[in-house]
Amino acid sequence: MIAVIGGTGMNQWPGLLIDESRGIDTPYGTPSGPLHLGRWNDQPLIFFARHGEGHKIPPHAINYRANLWALYSVGVRSVISISAVGGIHESMGPAQLAVPDDLIDYSWGRKHSYSDGPPDALKHVEFSDPYTPRLRAILLRAAADAGIELMDGGVMAVTQGPRLETPAEVRRLRRDGCDMIGMTGMPEAGLARELGLEYASLAVSVNWAAGLDEGEIHAQIEQSVTHGMARVRQILALALPV
Ligand code: HPA
Repeated sequence: MIAVIGGTGMNQWPGLLIDESRGIDTPYGTPSGPLHLGRWNDQPLIFFARHGEGHKIPPHAINYRANLWALYSVGVRSVISISAVGGIHESMGPAQLAVPDDLIDYSWGRKHSYSDGPPDALKHVEFSDPYTPRLRAILLRAAADAGIELMDGGVMAVTQGPRLETPAEVRRLRRDGCDMIGMTGMPEAGLARELGLEYASLAVSVNWAAGLDEGEIHAQIEQSVTHGMARVRQILALALPV
């Protein structure tokens, strides 16, 4: 079973046939919202809104452990994460897409592991490939079939938010080798790995990161989010079921 986690700009999925919206409690608390069990291209699929219904939960307050656990508990084994990001790399201007292949976690203070001391088992999961190559390849193939050019690879910086970065922070992230910035990619990807789930991200630039462009960031976001997410849906339509 595959799940799509939608973020900013994709809080709902028009066109998905939803059979049931199921609220689930987990040992880690309550997820952001219900799991929408539906069908896409005649195959079962789950859609989940990371920030909750109505997009109210900020990145640092999301219960990532409950979210991933809820998906796992109903049989999800593959997760495609949709994330709005700020672009650093020259090919990550507004409305451009990427399928990142690495990340740096700058977030802090989030409950980020299921390996949380006794009685939990201590596990040091491998994270040399934070995004599952098989799922990445499926997204890249679907984008090619849809005729959508995107960045194959790239490093995602995960910042704490909810504020945007300063120009100096963006310069540092660039020096660190980051190509795009989001606020929710971790601990989501790490928790997926701990649960043994396949995980890949389709990142949508909705603005140039702070200091890289003269324009006002929120104006860029308003202009590009609809267009960028329409391209995401085109890719998903061809990628799913995986
Ligand atoms: N920075 C961090 N996260 C983001 C941005 C940004 O500029 N745009 C969308 N998500």
